[in-house]
Amino acid sequence: MYIEKARVDSIQTLVPNTYLLKVFSPLIASKIKPGQFCNIKVSETDYPLLRRPFSICEVDGNYLHFMFDVHGEGTRILSSKIIGDEIDILGPLGKGFTYDGVYKTAIIIAGGIGAAPFPYLVESLPKDKEVHCYIGGRSKNNIIDYGMKNISVSTDDGSLGYKGTIVELFKQEYEKFKKDSVSIFACGPNPILKALQEFTIAKNIDCQISTECAMACGFGICQGCPIDNADGDGYYLVCKDGPVFDARMVRL
Ligand SMILES: Cc1cc2nc3c(=O)[nH]c(=O)nc-3n(C[C@H](O)[C@H](O)[C@H](O)COP(=O)(O)OP(=O)(O)OC[C@H]3O[C@@H](n4cnc5c(N)ncnc54)[C@H](O)[C@@H]3O)c2cc1C
Ligand code: FES
Repeated sequence: MYIEKARVDSIQTLVPNTYLLKVFSPLIASKIKPGQFCNIKVSETDYPLLRRPFSICEVDGNYLHFMFDVHGEGTRILSSKIIGDEIDILGPLGKGFTYDGVYKTAIIIAGGIGAAPFPYLVESLPKDKEVHCYIGGRSKNNIIDYGMKNISVSTDDGSLGYKGTIVELFKQEYEKFKKDSVSIFACGPNPILKALQEFTIAKNIDCQISTECAMACGFGICQGCPIDNADGDGYYLVCKDGPVFDARMVRL
């Protein structure tokens, strides 16, 4: 784990309210794996006090990319960065995706900004794996297909693709993958992950989910990011034991 002063190289709007930030951060870029995250100090002052966690979106040589939505003050400040600004980044943090197992097709399932960790995963998958990406959003303006391949789309309002959630669409299309061995990688709002978790456990499909919660330290000290284990008799820390978990391990 390192702290690096990362220089902003570019910042662009991908879709309304969603930004792609590229920073020069050679040390962390050389170490970070798909599904891990960084804890970013968004301002040079003490406000906001806590760092904000963001998944690694892409690694391009010495550069890191982060994809983020503006929710509150921290992400608003981050969205106002300009080329040449320096940002204090702590990482790599957490446990990422396991993707080198024996399976034929990697199925990516992303809801909204849940697309953030997948460009790097898609790029890192062994070349013998097929990839199919399921991307959901509220409407066509929220569909983030950056870095994705073989895409199926759903929107809540039906303005693009299937009308409904991305898990509903995947469940309808699952039969076409059934004859192959698949591994699912998912990130998105909790209701989406929960519906997927129920389906994949019932069908005995390998599924890893990238979870989210409020965080403080980001590396296992403050105990501020518990997630119940599947039996409900203990907990994991999202920052240290996750954020990526086998869907069978946790109670959402
Ligand atoms: C491991 C991990 C990885 C993450 N990766 C990403 C990423 O790649 N891209 C990204 O955009 N976000 C990501 N997040 C979420 C991100 O950290 C929060 O959006 C961010 O901390 C919000 O900071 P803020 O100061 O803007 O909002 P706050 O002031 O902290 O919150 C403002 C309001 O937004 C709500 N809010 C905060 N976070 C979310 C959220 N995730 N979804 C919906 N409402 C929210 C709060 O409840 C509050 O009402 C990740 C979170 C974790 C734990
Ligand atoms: S954020 Fe401190 S233990 Fe997880």
